[in-house]
Amino acid sequence: MKKNVLLALLAGMMVQLTVSCKTRIPADLTKANLIPKPVTVTATGSSFELNESTVVYVQEGSEELKQIGQLLADEIKAITDLTLKVQTTAQAPKRNGLFLTITPENTQIGTEGYDLMVTEDVVTLKANQSAGVFRGLQTIKQVLTFTNGADPKQQPVWLMATGNIVDYPEYAYRGAMLDVARHFFEVKDVKRLIDLLADYKINILHLHLSDDQGWRIEIKSWPKLTAIGGSTEVGGGEGGFYTQEQYKEIVQYAKERYITIIPEIDMPGHTNAALASYPELNCNNKAPKLYTGMKVGFSSLCTSKEITYKFVDDVIGEVAALTDGPYIHIGGDESHATKEKDYIKFMNRVQDIVKAHGKTMIGWDEVAHADIKPEAIIQYWAKSKNALLGVEKGAKVIMSPSKQAYLDMQYDSTTHLGLHWAGYVELDQAYNWDPANLVEGINKENVLGVESPLWSETVTNMDEIEYMVFPRIIGHAEIGWTAVENRSWEDYKVRLAKHGKRLKELGVNYYASPLIPWENEDATK
Ligand code: ACM
Repeated sequence: MKKNVLLALLAGMMVQLTVSCKTRIPADLTKANLIPKPVTVTATGSSFELNESTVVYVQEGSEELKQIGQLLADEIKAITDLTLKVQTTAQAPKRNGLFLTITPENTQIGTEGYDLMVTEDVVTLKANQSAGVFRGLQTIKQVLTFTNGADPKQQPVWLMATGNIVDYPEYAYRGAMLDVARHFFEVKDVKRLIDLLADYKINILHLHLSDDQGWRIEIKSWPKLTAIGGSTEVGGGEGGFYTQEQYKEIVQYAKERYITIIPEIDMPGHTNAALASYPELNCNNKAPKLYTGMKVGFSSLCTSKEITYKFVDDVIGEVAALTDGPYIHIGGDESHATKEKDYIKFMNRVQDIVKAHGKTMIGWDEVAHADIKPEAIIQYWAKSKNALLGVEKGAKVIMSPSKQAYLDMQYDSTTHLGLHWAGYVELDQAYNWDPANLVEGINKENVLGVESPLWSETVTNMDEIEYMVFPRIIGHAEIGWTAVENRSWEDYKVRLAKHGKRLKELGVNYYASPLIPWENEDATK
């Protein structure tokens, strides 16, 4: 061997030695304050150091992975101010890299689970599908944020605690609902909400698109729905609606964050906006006035007229064409102005219409009274008898119990927004329940998942949305993701306390509940 080759080799070995012998700061992965709490966390006590030459490596061959890699680099930039390169690769890196890979080999973790291995040299995020990589990315963000708990901008090095996290969700359906009918919210607000929900591994956003006070989605074959029905809101403001192009933009934005949008067209009740737009949908052929109050249960489509079913078919057809997920929500709640026998006949036909457009029906728990098909989904909010009836008919249930999951309920008697007809829902009340053990007779196998609805009678802007949603929904996200045996309020509230600072950095106007030992901060309000 020539002398200069030998010298070069020796020099190379020295560099290697210096890199691998560099003292690492000890860190404990089990103290990363992760929410939702993962299935297993094994700590190895050291740390991976992120610096400006760390590279995000993405296994070649997947466009989705590349997108997630870029998103990871963007998120790291937002947290640390470091600009990392994103590179595709055929092989796992040896050092100073974050490596994203899809290796469909771990049946335990399913479609959304992931395996995150952090060593001193490399961070490897593995999943069966890109959805799992995306969920794991949220964990990386939290590990990075919480490893030292130091002030991010003053921290000299950015660390991730070493160890292994194997994680997957307890429930397939983990949702939030936004009522854009009582008050209308712009596309940018919906996108911000999607971003914040994605942070906590939520995978569904249900949009309540029509109600007595407003119709919020353009239907090209019935244009007056938005021209008239979309023109106002609770309190008489100017309302608004999404054009189909805007709605597609929301669906796509959500999809890139592995969130499915579920559209709801509420019927036969909660339809004053539609009835005001088209007189022929009323049994007396007279259009009522637009409604800007907060009462419920007074309106109904005319279930005995054929034009009503033409209307439903046209609307569901256009909405189905905009929907990439499997579900369309047809409401069905509080139809007090519809006779029971008419309600059942109507819902049976609507169910067939939804199916004819290739989708599965979700309805609020009252819909269980119709002849629902076993694949129908019942959303429990009020009456356990209804949910049980649905289960007897073979349906699965989404758990949205108003006393625990309704985000429009006030936290306590001093909350300046919201209502309290279901009671006050402080953070412990919102957290301390088990979807598989809430209604007698409804067990884990009957439950599709959980959803937290925000009704917007009193909520008028993004700041107010955030105040009612956060941090309650973070607890709901954990209920949906983490098995009941693996979670407790006492442990959760300590982890949540650490998230206050991060929420603040994100500009989230959250409710600083006195039940939480928030760290290094004063209350938001
Ligand atoms: C509902 O709260 N009316 C479903």
